[in-house]
Amino acid sequence: MKKRVIVLGSINTDLVVKVRRLPHPGETVIGGTFYQNQGGKGANQAVAAARAGKNPVTLIAAVGNDVFGRESLAALQREKIDSTYVEVKEDISSGVALIMVDERGENAIAVASGANSALSPADVRKVPDSVFETAAVLLTCFEVPVETVEIGIQRARKCGVTTILNPAPVPEELPAELLSEVDIVTPNEHEIARLAGLPQIDEGASMHAAVERLLAYGVRKVVLTLGSRGCFFAEANSAKYIPAFPAKAVDTTGAGDAFNGALAAALAEGREWTESLRWASAAAAISVTRAGAQPSMPSRQEIEEFLKRQG
Ligand code: ATP
Ligand code: RIB
Repeated sequence: MKKRVIVLGSINTDLVVKVRRLPHPGETVIGGTFYQNQGGKGANQAVAAARAGKNPVTLIAAVGNDVFGRESLAALQREKIDSTYVEVKEDISSGVALIMVDERGENAIAVASGANSALSPADVRKVPDSVFETAAVLLTCFEVPVETVEIGIQRARKCGVTTILNPAPVPEELPAELLSEVDIVTPNEHEIARLAGLPQIDEGASMHAAVERLLAYGVRKVVLTLGSRGCFFAEANSAKYIPAFPAKAVDTTGAGDAFNGALAAALAEGREWTESLRWASAAAAISVTRAGAQPSMPSRQEIEEFLKRQG
């Protein structure tokens, strides 16, 4: 039965400083608190999918042969995520993200990609057919090379697997045909502006123009995430705005990952589309109320109880 969620993406160790406000260039802000978390969009999304869903999750990714990489692999095992296809690369360090989070939960992030940048198309080609044949959904992002993402999407499509592309961060160069091969694309406001070739978007005409442009590229469904304002979903003949659940944000790092991972899990277990978006929004709303990216991902039971409280 086709149920598995495949996540093709990055693994980072997040080195986080919680500060009163984000510093300006050249400025030092003292008085912060430090913590270290498992992170990386791919690993975060895999953890979000594993906690939110009941189907197996396989992560295709890469770490370096170092302490951070070993800790990341151990963390994936604790989450019961299949890490058979997490490559251990020699002579390159594991990915690291330096993150600052301010009092309002906003962040600034710099990533040293390390081993993530060495995840190659060949690494994806050697994943056995049986993994793709038993998958319902493939979720991927751009913290690994574009050509690697492309192979993952192509292999998934050949096996009839639904593909979700979280286009974060948008690469300098994107092959024109890549978006036409994707079922669902989930940009935030900055990402959709870049994908659509617009300087920026607001929630008026420019948002609709950007979404239309993505649909014209051949994407089946666009889910534009709008932070605390929720998300806007559009496909060929319909569009719908889905407000976010009210939440007191402590740290929004990984909100998008919570959303994408939970969406993938919901679709993989056959939930209907609008219900899947509601499930994803609930997971993301819970995640922003807690510190850190991966530690903030809610369990299935937490999402169910949260939704019951919403009525
Ligand atoms: P990040 O890069 O920080 O992981 P993102 O920019 O990819 O996030 P957002 O658009 O910020 O993604 O958020 C994704 C989803 O999370 C939103 O569509 C919304 O459902 C939920 N969300 C984000 N911020 C909040 C908030 N403050 N309160 C409630 N829900 C939120
Ligand atoms: O989406 C949040 C993630 O982005 C963090 O965990 C960090 O590792 C960066 O990759």
